[in-house]
Amino acid sequence: MHHKVSVIGAGNVGATLAQRIAEKGYADVVLVDIIDGLPQGKGLDILQAGPITGSDARVIGTNSYEETANSDIVVITSGSPRKPGMHRDDMVLTNMNIVKPVTEQVVKYSPKCIIIMVTNPLDAMTQLALHISKFPRNRVFGQSGILDTSRFRTFLAQELSVSVEDVYACVLGGHGDTMVPIPRLTTVGGVPITELLPQETVNKIVERTVKGGGEIVALLKTGSAFYAPAAATAQMIECIFLDKRRILPCAVYLEGEYGIRGVVVGVPVKLGKNGVEHIIELKLTLEESAALKKSAEAARELVNIMKLK
Ligand code: NAI
Ligand code: 2OP
Repeated sequence: MHHKVSVIGAGNVGATLAQRIAEKGYADVVLVDIIDGLPQGKGLDILQAGPITGSDARVIGTNSYEETANSDIVVITSGSPRKPGMHRDDMVLTNMNIVKPVTEQVVKYSPKCIIIMVTNPLDAMTQLALHISKFPRNRVFGQSGILDTSRFRTFLAQELSVSVEDVYACVLGGHGDTMVPIPRLTTVGGVPITELLPQETVNKIVERTVKGGGEIVALLKTGSAFYAPAAATAQMIECIFLDKRRILPCAVYLEGEYGIRGVVVGVPVKLGKNGVEHIIELKLTLEESAALKKSAEAARELVNIMKLK
C-alpha cells in the first residue's frame, strides 16, 4: 500500500470518509482528532472491518500528527458542524481557530501533500489553508461542488424517473446560499433540463439544491450531512490516486478565471495526480456570470473577516 491519506477530524464526515477510503483498499488511513480515544476507537473499528470487506488498508487513529508524516493527501474535516438556525458563515471565526493550527501541523509533517478542505465555511477555510500552507493552488482545494451537484442530480433523477448516472449537473460558486446552479448546462442524456422540464419545476429543484444542506440540518437537528459529503470527498481522492483527470467541480483559488481574482470559489476543474491540473472556463451568459461574481464576493467577505496577513 503506497498511498497514505490522513483525515483530520474523526467526527461524522471524517470517520465516514476513513471508512470509504479503507474499504476501497487503495490507501492507508490515519485518523486524527483532539478527543482522546475517539480516533483510536474508530480507527480500530474500521480496521477490523478489513477482513470482512476484503481490504488490507492499514487504519490508525491518533491524537498527534507524527503518524500523519508524508501523507499524500490530507483531508481537513475538523471543526464545528452546522447546527439548526446556524448559517455556514457564522462558523468562520470558530473554525478558523481550528483550521489554522491544524494546517500548520499538516504542512510540518507532510510538506508535499495535497490538502482537501471539507470544514465550513468551505470556501473561506480553503483559502485559509492555502494562505497558511503557502502551497500552490493546485494542491489546496475544497470539496463542495461534487456534493451540491450530487444533490441537484438526485432531485432531477427523481423528477424525471431516470438513473442518477445519466444526469450531469453544473453548479458553480461558493458552498452556500449564493451557489449558482446552471440549468442551461445541466443535462439528462445530453439534453438540457430546460428542454425537459417546465421552468417552474426547474426553479423548485434549483431552490432545493441551494438549500440542500439546510434541509438535512433541519432533519438531523444535532449536526449536518455526512454520508454524501464523505462520498464526494472519496471521489476526489480516487480521482487523484488513479490520475483519472475527471472534470469535477471543486473550490479553487481563482487568479483571473471567470473574471474573478484572489478568492476561492467553486468551478469545474480537471482533477488528476497533481490535484487541480487545469481550471475549466465555461462560457457563461451575462446573468450566470453576474451570479458567479456575486457568489465570489460573498466568499471574499468571509475571507475579509479572517484578516489574513
Ligand atoms: P463533527 O462534529 O461530527 O466532527 C468534527 C470533529 O472535528 C470532531 O470529532 C471534533 O472533535 C474534531 N475537531 C475539532 N477540533 C479539532 C482539532 N483542532 N483537531 C482535530 N480534530 C478536531 O462534524 P462533521 O459533521 O464531521 O463536520 C465537520 C466539518 O465539515 C464541519 O465544519 C461541517 O460544517 C463541514 N461539512 C462540510 C461539507 C462540505 O460539503 N464541504 C459537508 C458536510 C460537513
Ligand atoms: C452541507 O452542505 C453542511 O455544508 C454541509 O450539507
